[in-house]
Amino acid sequence: MKNKIVAGNWKMNKTFSEADDLIYAISEGLNDMELETDVIICPPYPYLEMATDAAEESNFTVGAQNVSYAEKGAYTGEVSAAMLKSMDVDICIVGHSERRAYFKETDEELAKKVDQLLANDIVPIFCVGETLEERESGAHWDKIGGQLENSLFHLKKDEIANVIIAYEPVWAIGTGKTATPQQAQEVHAFIRKKIEEKYGTETAYNIYILYGGSCNPGNALELFSCQDVDGGLIGGASLKAEDFIAIVNAAETCTKND
Ligand code: PGA
Repeated sequence: MKNKIVAGNWKMNKTFSEADDLIYAISEGLNDMELETDVIICPPYPYLEMATDAAEESNFTVGAQNVSYAEKGAYTGEVSAAMLKSMDVDICIVGHSERRAYFKETDEELAKKVDQLLANDIVPIFCVGETLEERESGAHWDKIGGQLENSLFHLKKDEIANVIIAYEPVWAIGTGKTATPQQAQEVHAFIRKKIEEKYGTETAYNIYILYGGSCNPGNALELFSCQDVDGGLIGGASLKAEDFIAIVNAAETCTKND
């Protein structure tokens, strides 16, 4: 039986003192729980150290939201995987649909980011997902399959074993429009099948596939109960300690009921 993963993606939200309050409130909430779920918090870069300090006294790990495709050097404004590692950051989101859409990140660039992270022992949370237009025209299978092939399938079996995948339908992110459990399960099963075809049954079984897109305390239990949904990548609802803890509780309930 696999435990679940619940990761909070704060995106570009919270001032320093608000971030401090939120980390404190989440830590307090988690400390009261006997956790089986792996909880990850991904704050903006400037708050990473605050988060890793708090994580020492609590039961969550800290992730970044982005990383440079380059190793080091003259890349003003960028942050390298080695820098993250040197700050005890062990996880990093890559290829979020907002990065793909607003910053024009391509599958090829994302493959390099994944390589940088793995070379520095950081677990990538690699995001895939289709737009509404792609779903309505039935192009979502090719889109998601292509994202996996282009950015992950150059990896060796022991490398992909260290990757977490997040399915985040673009039409469900921050819109309040969640994929139904059936829609999520169908795509998660498809992703797992693709991994199985390329890397075999064991790797496919063990890999974590998270759902993201308007996940909240009201729908988390139903989504996480789907066979191939191994947890969630949470945006808006990770900005309120109470909601985030409620989602972690839903993950705990799923693991216990399994
Ligand atoms: P949301 O965002 O939960 O606010 O929809 C999810 C994400 O973008 O990771």
